Amino acid sequence: MTHDPFAAALGLRRVAGLDPRPAPSSHPALAAKIAGEIRERGPMTFARFMALALYDPKGGYYTAEQARPGREGDFITAPEAHPIFGWSLARQVHQVWELLGCPDPFVLREHGAGAGALAQAILDGLARDGSGVLHGLRYQPVEVEPRRIEALAARLAAAGHGARLDLAGAADPAPLTGLILGNEVLDALPVHRVRGLADGGLEELFVVEAAGAAESVPAFEALAGPPSTPALAARLAGEGITLRPGQDAEICLALDAWVADRAAELGRGLLLLVDYGHPAPELYDGFKRPRGTLLAYRHHRALDEPFAAVGRQDLTAHVDVTAVQRAAEAAGLVTAGITTQAELLTSLGAGELFAALGGDPATAPEDYLTARSALMRMLDPAAMGKFRVMLMGRGLPPDCRLRALDFRLPRR
Ligand SMILES: C[S@@+](CC[C@H](N)C(=O)[O-])C[C@H]1O[C@@H](n2cnc3c(N)ncnc32)[C@H](O)[C@@H]1O
Repeated sequence: MTHDPFAAALGLRRVAGLDPRPAPSSHPALAAKIAGEIRERGPMTFARFMALALYDPKGGYYTAEQARPGREGDFITAPEAHPIFGWSLARQVHQVWELLGCPDPFVLREHGAGAGALAQAILDGLARDGSGVLHGLRYQPVEVEPRRIEALAARLAAAGHGARLDLAGAADPAPLTGLILGNEVLDALPVHRVRGLADGGLEELFVVEAAGAAESVPAFEALAGPPSTPALAARLAGEGITLRPGQDAEICLALDAWVADRAAELGRGLLLLVDYGHPAPELYDGFKRPRGTLLAYRHHRALDEPFAAVGRQDLTAHVDVTAVQRAAEAAGLVTAGITTQAELLTSLGAGELFAALGGDPATAPEDYLTARSALMRMLDPAAMGKFRVMLMGRGLPPDCRLRALDFRLPRR
């Protein structure tokens, strides 16, 4: 997801108060639940707060009736911006199928599938390229919210892809042959917040009820204290990172288990993850990111207000790409490569797909312009183009070169 990249590139930022829409109040039952847990057990880790704010079945942001990506929502993802993203990824799906010897069935499992924008675009892309993988393809969406799956199933059926949907298979624990995909899912995994100390150690920022909060709905604030687990310092030490005194950062301990689970799902094939993130030395660069990367998203604004609108705004932190790669390798996967979204899309021929769209007499001028601005945003190194793409495989031919990693500058 991205927020006003052009303004960001110019060094401009919105000033609080200019948005005509005030922050919605927190979900009352969810805020009460969090406050109750704090009163009972003491200060809460931010990871626990974020897990409840995003995933609580009765008030979490992702379990709300309406999904919130899209122009009317809180943020826009590449697949929601234009299907050219999925049309391009379809080519990587096809190549993995070929590299595995054209298996039938071939599973495409998508974590955080949302309402199916990426699934439809990939299936459409495979169809337009005439890929043989479609015949035996089983698309298995995984979502925290069942209502997203209902919307996704309706969408694929309307697009003529209903027969490819394999809902039961998504819960099958047997290792699959195929490709596992996740676009902008890792950034939603709960993070702990930490701050560097003068002696090179860490303190943790916990969540407590805000002092003197007068409203009937509980409000929250941060409180520093000794870390809740030595795993926080161990993660940074293992990456050779020492935070500067006063530097804020986030640590996602949950990603180890998440990646290990994906590796366990993958019998033969590729795990492909796209997200905004950085290798650890960049992510924890105290000069570039002294306040960390935790952000709230509401109405396409990126806000430094993690405790506002609890359950009614997205919360995200940039992904530690080093930690993802290490977790995948510890679980037996082989890193095929780490690249950027701009390079991935270029390698997979997004430019040609766009040219073909422009050359198609059936393309309406406004659709052409929509595609053009969406593709520019997806490729822009100051916006979505810098997102990281992590490609980790198992059982692929050792000397294979994935198409997604084929980026080369045009040379005369
Ligand atoms: C930012 S949206 C991205 C949706 C979609 N992948 C896209 O690119 O448009 C994150 C989605 O992942 C889902 N999600 C978040 N955490 C998840 C998890 N741990 N497992 C499965 N789905 C998750 C949310 O419900 C939401 O639909």
